[in-house]
Amino acid sequence: MGKLKIAIIGCGNMGLTYAKSFIAYDLVFKDDILLIEKNAEHGKFLETLNIGKIASNIDSKLREYEIIILAVKPQDFETVAPALQKVLEPHHLVFSIMAGISIDRIEKSLRHKMIVRAMPNTPAQIGMGITAYVAGKSVKMEHIRKVEKMLSTTGREIMMEEESMLDAVTALSGSGPAYFYYFVKYMIEAGKQMGIDEGMSALLVKQTMNGAYHLMNNGNKNLDDLIASVKSKGGTTEAALNVFEEKLVGESIIIALKAAEARAKELAK
Ligand SMILES: NC(=O)c1ccc[n+]([C@@H]2O[C@H](COP(=O)([O-])OP(=O)(O)OC[C@H]3O[C@@H](n4cnc5c(N)ncnc54)[C@H](OP(=O)(O)O)[C@@H]3O)[C@@H](O)[C@H]2O)c1
Repeated sequence: MGKLKIAIIGCGNMGLTYAKSFIAYDLVFKDDILLIEKNAEHGKFLETLNIGKIASNIDSKLREYEIIILAVKPQDFETVAPALQKVLEPHHLVFSIMAGISIDRIEKSLRHKMIVRAMPNTPAQIGMGITAYVAGKSVKMEHIRKVEKMLSTTGREIMMEEESMLDAVTALSGSGPAYFYYFVKYMIEAGKQMGIDEGMSALLVKQTMNGAYHLMNNGNKNLDDLIASVKSKGGTTEAALNVFEEKLVGESIIIALKAAEARAKELAK
């Protein structure tokens, strides 16, 4: 497989992440990547990065590219669709990361069949993301291989058979980084309230999360065993975990993630 020709519509957080990753991993030549960005000021910033050609509008130039990434906010899709529909040709593979916009809706709005819909997350910015994706019925193996090659520059990827599962993926890994930061934030705050200065508290918490993450992935203990290895009867960890139990923190986490899933389903309507 040679180098790809990719156009990205919407170069904010995620679109820019893709452009940078594709260049960093030598997936595209700079001349073979087109960044379409409506925001003029942001477009000027993109020029300074020297990571591809920059355009402000969708036009016939798109015909030269084989993969078109849709990375605008979901609410902007209906403005993008009419212009995109005019320049799409049957060979184009449209790769959408817009949350909650179904393959069926994209196919109908664009009058185009070759659609892959994906849900990435922000650690993609440092090659540590995870993306789940679903391919429309007309997408062939050769396209899947290109998608996987593209996504592997941002971390790991998994193909899902059922599009409806993307709502759960959105709740788990799409929104997931925010839950982690939330927990870290309050642990740091607790350290401050116990008299440790903020920088020190942040170091203690972040390195604890980092170490615990690696221990979880590199050892052979399951999560209950790992918890038991820190907790002793009548000890400090147990005192904290008892409060989590009393305050139904575990149940709240499940309820919260189900609320995210429900919201993803609602947005898809
Ligand atoms: N961020 C995440 O964690 C995450 C995770 C998974 C999926 N997603 C999905 O990824 C998509 C992008 O999210 P993001 O966080 O990267 O959003 P973002 O930072 O707002 O980027 C979107 C960019 O697209 C531009 N834009 C809007 N309309 C356009 C048009 N017609 N043509 C060209 N550019 C246009 C926006 O300009 P203006 O600012 O002027 O509107 C903005 O610069 C969303 O659909 C989201 O659901 C995001």
